[in-house]
Amino acid sequence: MSETAQTERLKQLGRRRFLNCVWTFFGAIAASELGWLGLSFLKSRKERNLSVSTDSIITAGPVERFKPETVTAIPNGGFYLSRLADGSFLPLSRTCTHLGCTVPWVEERKQFVCPCHGSTFSLTGEVITSPAPRPLDTFPARIENGIVKVDIASPRKRERFDPTQATRLSS
Ligand code: FES
Repeated sequence: MSETAQTERLKQLGRRRFLNCVWTFFGAIAASELGWLGLSFLKSRKERNLSVSTDSIITAGPVERFKPETVTAIPNGGFYLSRLADGSFLPLSRTCTHLGCTVPWVEERKQFVCPCHGSTFSLTGEVITSPAPRPLDTFPARIENGIVKVDIASPRKRERFDPTQATRLSS
Protein backbone atom coordinates (compact mmCIF):
# COMPACT_ATOMS: atom_id res chain seq x y z
CA MET A 1 0.00 0.00 0.00
CA SER A 2 1.37 3.39 -0.98
CA GLU A 3 1.96 6.12 1.56
CA THR A 4 -0.76 8.30 0.00
CA ALA A 5 -3.32 5.50 0.19
CA GLN A 6 -2.37 4.83 3.81
CA THR A 7 -2.74 8.54 4.69
CA GLU A 8 -6.13 8.61 2.97
CA ARG A 9 -7.23 5.51 4.93
CA LEU A 10 -6.15 7.10 8.22
CA LYS A 11 -8.11 10.25 7.35
CA GLN A 12 -11.20 8.14 6.61
CA LEU A 13 -10.86 6.30 9.91
CA GLY A 14 -10.53 9.61 11.75
CA ARG A 15 -13.60 11.03 10.00
CA ARG A 16 -15.60 7.89 10.80
CA ARG A 17 -14.57 8.05 14.46
CA PHE A 18 -15.47 11.74 14.58
CA LEU A 19 -18.91 11.08 13.04
CA ASN A 20 -19.50 8.23 15.50
CA CYS A 21 -18.71 10.60 18.40
CA VAL A 22 -21.10 13.24 17.00
CA TRP A 23 -23.93 10.68 16.57
CA THR A 24 -23.36 9.30 20.07
CA PHE A 25 -23.41 12.81 21.50
CA PHE A 26 -26.69 13.77 19.77
CA GLY A 27 -28.20 10.37 20.59
CA ALA A 28 -27.44 10.89 24.28
CA ILE A 29 -29.03 14.38 24.20
CA ALA A 30 -32.15 13.05 22.43
CA ALA A 31 -32.48 10.17 24.91
CA SER A 32 -32.17 12.47 27.93
CA GLU A 33 -34.74 14.91 26.46
CA LEU A 34 -37.16 12.04 25.85
CA GLY A 35 -36.70 10.88 29.44
CA TRP A 36 -37.27 14.39 30.74
CA LEU A 37 -40.41 14.81 28.61
CA GLY A 38 -41.75 11.48 29.84
CA LEU A 39 -41.19 12.42 33.47
CA SER A 40 -42.81 15.84 32.97
CA PHE A 41 -45.83 14.23 31.32
CA LEU A 42 -46.28 11.72 34.14
CA LYS A 43 -45.81 14.42 36.77
CA SER A 44 -48.37 16.80 35.23
CA ARG A 45 -50.85 13.92 34.81
CA LYS A 46 -50.48 13.09 38.47
CA GLU A 47 -51.06 16.75 39.40
CA ARG A 48 -54.09 16.95 37.09
CA ASN A 49 -55.59 13.81 38.64
CA LEU A 50 -55.14 15.22 42.12
CA SER A 51 -56.89 18.45 41.18
CA VAL A 52 -59.77 16.54 39.58
CA SER A 53 -60.30 14.47 42.70
CA THR A 54 -60.50 17.52 44.97
CA ASP A 55 -62.46 19.76 42.56
CA SER A 56 -65.04 17.10 41.73
CA ILE A 57 -67.03 17.57 44.96
CA ILE A 58 -69.55 20.35 44.33
CA THR A 59 -71.43 21.99 47.17
CA ALA A 60 -75.00 22.37 45.90
CA GLY A 61 -76.33 24.16 48.98
CA PRO A 62 -78.26 23.67 52.23
CA VAL A 63 -81.07 21.10 52.19
CA GLU A 64 -83.80 23.68 52.96
CA ARG A 65 -82.93 25.63 49.81
CA PHE A 66 -84.50 22.89 47.69
CA LYS A 67 -88.26 22.30 47.89
CA PRO A 68 -89.69 18.82 47.20
CA GLU A 69 -90.66 18.19 43.56
CA THR A 70 -88.37 20.89 42.20
CA VAL A 71 -85.37 20.91 39.91
CA THR A 72 -82.52 23.36 40.48
CA ALA A 73 -79.68 23.98 38.04
CA ILE A 74 -76.25 23.91 39.68
CA PRO A 75 -74.19 25.79 37.09
CA ASN A 76 -70.79 25.45 38.76
CA GLY A 77 -71.21 21.66 38.67
CA GLY A 78 -72.92 21.38 35.30
CA PHE A 79 -75.82 19.31 36.67
CA TYR A 80 -79.38 19.58 37.99
CA LEU A 81 -80.42 18.74 41.51
CA SER A 82 -83.86 17.15 41.63
CA ARG A 83 -85.57 17.01 44.98
CA LEU A 84 -88.15 14.26 44.85
CA ALA A 85 -91.58 14.21 46.52
CA ASP A 86 -90.23 12.16 49.46
CA GLY A 87 -87.53 14.78 50.13
CA SER A 88 -84.64 12.76 48.71
CA PHE A 89 -82.08 14.26 46.32
CA LEU A 90 -81.17 13.07 42.83
CA PRO A 91 -78.38 14.90 40.96
CA LEU A 92 -78.93 14.58 37.21
CA SER A 93 -76.58 15.12 34.30
CA ARG A 94 -77.69 17.82 31.88
CA THR A 95 -76.35 15.80 28.93
CA CYS A 96 -78.97 14.10 26.76
CA THR A 97 -78.40 10.36 26.49
CA HIS A 98 -79.28 10.42 22.79
CA LEU A 99 -76.51 12.48 21.18
CA GLY A 100 -75.25 14.63 24.04
CA CYS A 101 -77.12 17.93 23.69
CA THR A 102 -77.59 20.00 26.83
CA VAL A 103 -81.07 19.45 28.18
CA PRO A 104 -82.92 22.35 29.82
CA TRP A 105 -85.56 21.92 32.54
CA VAL A 106 -88.85 23.41 31.38
CA GLU A 107 -90.73 24.42 34.51
CA GLU A 108 -94.14 24.87 32.81
CA ARG A 109 -94.04 21.28 31.55
CA LYS A 110 -92.23 19.87 34.60
CA GLN A 111 -89.96 18.03 32.18
CA PHE A 112 -86.48 18.14 30.73
CA VAL A 113 -86.91 18.83 27.02
CA CYS A 114 -84.04 18.20 24.64
CA PRO A 115 -83.91 20.93 21.97
CA CYS A 116 -82.12 18.68 19.47
CA HIS A 117 -84.48 15.78 18.71
CA GLY A 118 -87.28 16.28 21.19
CA SER A 119 -86.55 13.68 23.88
CA THR A 120 -88.23 14.47 27.16
CA PHE A 121 -87.33 13.31 30.66
CA SER A 122 -89.17 13.35 33.98
CA LEU A 123 -88.07 14.91 37.27
CA THR A 124 -86.26 11.65 38.04
CA GLY A 125 -84.53 11.77 34.64
CA GLU A 126 -86.53 8.90 33.14
CA VAL A 127 -87.29 8.96 29.42
CA ILE A 128 -90.84 10.09 28.66
CA THR A 129 -90.32 10.59 24.91
CA SER A 130 -87.57 8.94 22.84
CA PRO A 131 -85.22 8.87 20.88
CA ALA A 132 -83.16 9.04 24.11
CA PRO A 133 -82.30 5.39 24.85
CA ARG A 134 -81.98 5.64 28.65
CA PRO A 135 -82.53 8.02 31.59
CA LEU A 136 -80.25 10.95 32.33
CA ASP A 137 -77.10 9.91 34.20
CA THR A 138 -76.94 10.55 37.94
CA PHE A 139 -74.10 11.55 40.25
CA PRO A 140 -73.44 10.29 43.77
CA ALA A 141 -74.51 12.75 46.49
CA ARG A 142 -74.18 13.00 50.26
CA ILE A 143 -75.55 15.31 52.89
CA GLU A 144 -73.02 16.68 55.37
CA ASN A 145 -74.23 18.93 58.19
CA GLY A 146 -77.36 19.78 56.23
CA ILE A 147 -75.41 20.62 53.05
CA VAL A 148 -75.92 18.68 49.81
CA LYS A 149 -72.63 17.72 48.16
CA VAL A 150 -72.34 16.03 44.78
CA ASP A 151 -69.40 14.17 43.28
CA ILE A 152 -69.37 14.93 39.56
CA ALA A 153 -66.29 12.79 38.84
CA SER A 154 -68.24 9.58 38.36
CA PRO A 155 -71.56 9.85 36.49
CA ARG A 156 -73.72 6.72 36.73
CA LYS A 157 -75.54 5.28 33.75
CA ARG A 158 -78.82 3.48 34.50
CA GLU A 159 -81.64 1.71 32.72
CA ARG A 160 -84.49 3.06 34.87
CA PHE A 161 -85.16 5.09 37.98
CA ASP A 162 -84.86 3.27 41.28
CA PRO A 163 -85.47 5.08 44.61
CA THR A 164 -82.14 3.75 45.92
CA GLN A 165 -80.40 6.08 43.44
CA ALA A 166 -81.58 9.10 45.47
CA THR A 167 -79.88 10.39 48.62
CA ARG A 168 -81.96 10.82 51.78
CA LEU A 169 -81.40 13.04 54.78
CA SER A 170 -80.74 10.07 57.06
CA SER A 171 -78.38 8.30 54.60
S1 FES B 1 -79.59 14.78 21.54
FE1 FES B 1 -81.34 14.87 22.81
S2 FES B 1 -82.86 13.94 21.65
FE2 FES B 1 -81.13 13.85 20.39
